[in-house]
Amino acid sequence: MTKIEKIVLSYSGGLDTSIILKWLQETYGCEVVTFTADLGQGEELEPARAKAEMSGVKDIRIVDLREEFVSDFVFPMLRANALYEGHYLLGSSIARPLIAKRLVDIAREVGADAIAHGATGKGNDQIRFELAVNALDPSIKVIAPWRQWNIRSRMQLLEYAEKHHIPVPSDKRGEAPFSIDANLLHTSTEGKILENPAEVAPDHVYQRTVDPVDAPDTPEIITIGFERGDPVSVNGKAMTPAALLTELNGLGGRHGVGRLDLVENRFIGMKSRGIYETPGGTILLSAHRGIESITLDRVAAHLKDEIMPRYAELIYNGFWFAPEREMLQALIDHSQAFVSGEVTLRLYKGSASVISRASPFSLYSADLVTFEESTIAFDHHDAEGFIRLNGLRLRSWAARNGR
Ligand code: ARG
Repeated sequence: MTKIEKIVLSYSGGLDTSIILKWLQETYGCEVVTFTADLGQGEELEPARAKAEMSGVKDIRIVDLREEFVSDFVFPMLRANALYEGHYLLGSSIARPLIAKRLVDIAREVGADAIAHGATGKGNDQIRFELAVNALDPSIKVIAPWRQWNIRSRMQLLEYAEKHHIPVPSDKRGEAPFSIDANLLHTSTEGKILENPAEVAPDHVYQRTVDPVDAPDTPEIITIGFERGDPVSVNGKAMTPAALLTELNGLGGRHGVGRLDLVENRFIGMKSRGIYETPGGTILLSAHRGIESITLDRVAAHLKDEIMPRYAELIYNGFWFAPEREMLQALIDHSQAFVSGEVTLRLYKGSASVISRASPFSLYSADLVTFEESTIAFDHHDAEGFIRLNGLRLRSWAARNGR
């Protein structure tokens, strides 16, 4: 085994990373620095400090990354209307590059030669962390205990915890918890009964949204302001990116917006089933499409939609810090120069529907489109010629086919 001098561990204070901390200290016999990111997961972070202290960690880093997460990762991604496989808003995928970036920063600062993470060997997250480290500082080694130790299951993990007197958390019902990943954009839940896609997800899986059936009978009308493609206000009140997303999560959650039960294709090869709750993100996707609908040129908008699946897939696959992501981002960002204005939506029993939109840069012309008399010169004979020429090849084709 290679000799390691110092390790920075991505540490949540939860069961897995508590065990990993112990295992790293025992296996490498070197100093471990812990890094805990506040990404708005809605969990107290002080217990993580206490636990790290108890395990003898001298250098404990707890950093509030909420604003950076939303402004530099979530919002740029939303400018693209990114959805993986048509549905997934990429809530876990987009958090990994930021965590990796901070791990690398801290490793350089404290002179560590390795970073460690608690992602398992079957998931996407290990790929995302490690591709990011490759792109940011190839000299830093990566330790992935889940691929190295001989713990092979959650059962064995619990045994190891017991042997080392590491407290095992249980959910509200006293059962082993699901595998949960939460941040300001979403909560993702996987494992246990959800591993059978034929089984309906039980209601207690959901953490931050009510069942649309139980949502208020009265709809709620909200207005979101956009500037150059990014949301900047809710109901006329300017907000920082993290505050805005937090506000929309509250509103969406109350109306049951943003639930998703999905079977997706992991980059590593298998299919997996997960439950996602993305209340604020779901509202923002509708709203952003709403403001784009009046401010983007048709061909520009369609080009954006063509590259979107590609852009979403490369974020899903862990290539945030890659030249192709930066190239596509430049294109997307360029398209947003006039994507400013206001969108009004109605939140009602699980839906977030755009009901009006307005922009000082609108390309929409009522005078041009009107069914009534119009002042703009639009020669109806042009439409006739337009159809005749577009139909030319279809007429040849039909004649050849003998129709
Ligand atoms: N399948 C999702 C993704 O790859 C979420 C992964 C993390 N979620 C979890 N519950 N462990 O982006």
